[in-house]
This record gives sequence, structure tokens and C-alpha cells, in this order.
Amino acid sequence: MGDFVASASARPPELAERLLPTWAEIRPEDIYAGLALPEGPTDRPYVVLNMVATVDGQVAIGGRASGIGSRLDRALMRRIRAACDAVMVGAATLRAERVDPSVPDELAEARAVRGLPPRPMAVAISATLDLDPSWRFFRHGPDRTLVLTTTTAPRDRAEALAGSATVERIGGDSVDLVEALARLRGRYGVERLVVEGGPTLNRQLVALGLVDELFLTLAPKLAGGGGPSILGGGGPAEKVMAELELGSLHGWDGELFFRYRIVQG
Ligand SMILES: NC(=O)c1ccc[n+]([C@@H]2O[C@H](COP(=O)([O-])OP(=O)(O)OC[C@H]3O[C@@H](n4cnc5c(N)ncnc54)[C@H](OP(=O)(O)O)[C@@H]3O)[C@@H](O)[C@H]2O)c1
Repeated sequence: MGDFVASASARPPELAERLLPTWAEIRPEDIYAGLALPEGPTDRPYVVLNMVATVDGQVAIGGRASGIGSRLDRALMRRIRAACDAVMVGAATLRAERVDPSVPDELAEARAVRGLPPRPMAVAISATLDLDPSWRFFRHGPDRTLVLTTTTAPRDRAEALAGSATVERIGGDSVDLVEALARLRGRYGVERLVVEGGPTLNRQLVALGLVDELFLTLAPKLAGGGGPSILGGGGPAEKVMAELELGSLHGWDGELFFRYRIVQG
């Protein structure tokens, strides 16, 4: 008992494991395949967070997340997106990463078969509008790209984005996220939303009780450093923000894929 089991890395890459709710050897392509999320309450979408972190809780290395997760983690990110009507990110994530909000053709076709637009809407949150319309995030144009900003955001920057995104103003100096989610549901018909960070945006949404699930990939890596966790930095925690209920756990090549339900207090 207590021996180190080397089987995780000994398993061939075409095999993954479902560890919970019941153990099974499965194909990596079956994890979250056909994922069906509930519709959620009537005044906002059903909201899931999707994040990847190292075992020591770091969400960026050299300012970017791209070196943390495996190719399977990136594939799962696209499968979770394909189950949603919109993908939301904070503006600092857009500035740090080359976020492409698309899903691969086979997932787009499967969405179309279900009567959905081939790809989810791309939604960014920004007060400054310090965003470049040439970024890949804006590739699908104003019908499929939305920037939610404040009433005080610079007009010239809003105009510069107009050909690439629909810009909506919500709130004074910061976007009221309750109103933002209500608008996504009411005006844009978003019933399921995946939020892909960053920590600053995640933290606000969790604090407001607006998140239903967390998909968390734990990559078998240590990064060191004192960067933010999935809910940001800013000093020692004072209280538990939310309780989590484990829904499923998969493993592949030492990487763990947790799906948690957030139990609202
Ligand atoms: N490991 C992962 O899964 C993962 C995922 C995503 C990101 N990341 C990493 O996280 C880092 C970025 O995260 P971050 O926490 O610094 O920032 P963030 O949450 O991505 O973005 C924060 C920015 O979003 C805008 N924003 C957020 N809430 C707002 C509100 N209520 N009203 C108006 N604007 C609002 C503001 O943009 P403006 O400044 O434009 O006003 C704010 O500066 C990067 O290093 C990235 O690589 C990691």
C-alpha cells in the first residue's frame, strides 16, 4: 500500500481513464463528447468556467496559459465551447493570448445538425476597449462577436471596433455583470455560456453567484512563482467563496480533468 503507481504515464496515449463516477478505460476523444449542459435560470445563461492550472495552482507561465495544458486539454476546451452558445473572456486574456473562439469543423457541423449556428458567439468584457480588431478573436465579425463595455469607454476605440464587433455599453465605470448576463440571455438568446478566464473576470462572476460549473484541468507540472490562481491573486483568502461538488473526473497521461458543480450558498 502507498506504492507509487507508474501506470498513468505508462498508459498508451490512445487510452484515457474515467476515474469518477465509475472507473473505465476510455478513448480521449470520448471525454466530454456530446456534452449537454442544462439551460439554466430564465434571467441568465447557464454559466461554466473552463480553466487550466499547474498542480501548484498557476494559470499562466510567462504571462500566458498556452504552455500549461496538453493537446487533449485544448481539444476538451473546444468540446466545451461546442456545447455553449457563447464564449466569454476578459480583455486582459485577449491581450495576453491569441484567443481564437472557433470550434473545429466537425464540431461546427455537429452544431449545425442540432440547428445551432456553427460556432458560438465570442464575447469580450472590457472597460478600456484597448483591443485590436485584427486579432483572431474578431475573425467572425460583428454578427458573432460582442464586446461588452461601459458607458464611459472611449468613443474612438468603440468606433475602431465597430466593423469587427458589436459594442454594447453596460454600467458606468465597470460592466455590471448581472446585467451583462441578462442581456446575453434576453437579447442574444445565449442559454449556455463558457467563461474562459481570466482570473479577474472569474472571481467577479463567482463572487456574484453567477457560475454553475467549473471545468478545471490540472496539468502535471509545477511552475513556482506567485501568480494568480483561477480566481486571481490579491493576498491571503479570507473565506471560502464557494463549495464544489465533484461531477466527474478523467485522466490522461497524468493530467486530470475535473468537472465540478458550484453549490450556491
Ligand atoms: N490558465 C487558464 O486557463 C487561463 C485562462 C485565461 C487567462 N489566463 C491568464 O490570465 C491572465 C489574464 O487574466 P487577468 O485576471 O489578468 O484578466 P482578465 O480577467 O482576462 O481580464 C481583466 C480585464 O477584463 C476587463 N474586465 C473584467 N471585468 C470587468 C468589468 N466588470 N467591467 C469592465 N471590464 C472588465 C478589464 O479590461 P480592460 O482592462 O480592457 O478594461 C480587465 O482589465 C493572462 O496571463 C492569461 O494568460 C489563464
